[in-house]
Amino acid sequence: MEPIIVWYLRMSVIYFVAAAAVGTAMLIHPDIRIALTPIHAHLNLLGFMSMMIYGVGYHILPKFSGVQVYSPKIVRVQFWVANAGLIGMAVSWPLDYNPLFKGMLIMSALLSVLGAVLFAFNILKTIKPIGAK
Ligand code: HEM
Ligand code: HEM
Repeated sequence: MEPIIVWYLRMSVIYFVAAAAVGTAMLIHPDIRIALTPIHAHLNLLGFMSMMIYGVGYHILPKFSGVQVYSPKIVRVQFWVANAGLIGMAVSWPLDYNPLFKGMLIMSALLSVLGAVLFAFNILKTIKPIGAK
């Protein structure tokens, strides 16, 4: 398996453990629940789920089409963009009453969206029916 794909999978399970820890902290301290819910939700959904799908998708879907991934460079760039976006969102979300962190949250959110767009572009350019030219 390509090292970058292993890194997608590693980060996915790291986010899962982090999200589970945040979720458990929310159960123990209901007063911080509202502040932490978006972090918990997105560590799980953008971190665990999306990062797992990015990694497994890049590993499996080209094989289904009998081709190489369209752009290995996008696979690497997207890894940094998506992780910077999610970590930036997780750090700045509870502090977004401060204009500096609000700006950081918006920039990080845009990076997360860019990560999704890069994946969509790269995987759509990769997959095609077997036998198609
Ligand atoms: C150790 C495992 C987990 C714990 C302890 C946990 C705990 C919690 C808690 C305490 C809340 C807040 C509930 C509320 O205020 O009504 C919550 C919300 C949420 N959790 Fe988890 N959770 C866990 C796993 C997961 C997983 C695996 C996912 C998704 C893959 C997930 C997705 C969500 C989402 C999307 C919300 C927000 C729901 C809403 O908007 O009301 N959680 N979780
Ligand atoms: C691409 C970047 C994303 C951005 C910028 C984003 C942004 C947001 C925002 C601003 C909220 C409202 C949070 C609040 O104030 O309570 C939210 C909630 C939510 N988002 Fe996302 N989201 C993204 C990706 C996703 C993805 C990929 C999923 C699911 C696969 C998802 C699932 C949810 C859920 C379940 C909630 C409600 C949980 C809560 O109450 O916090 N989001 N999102």
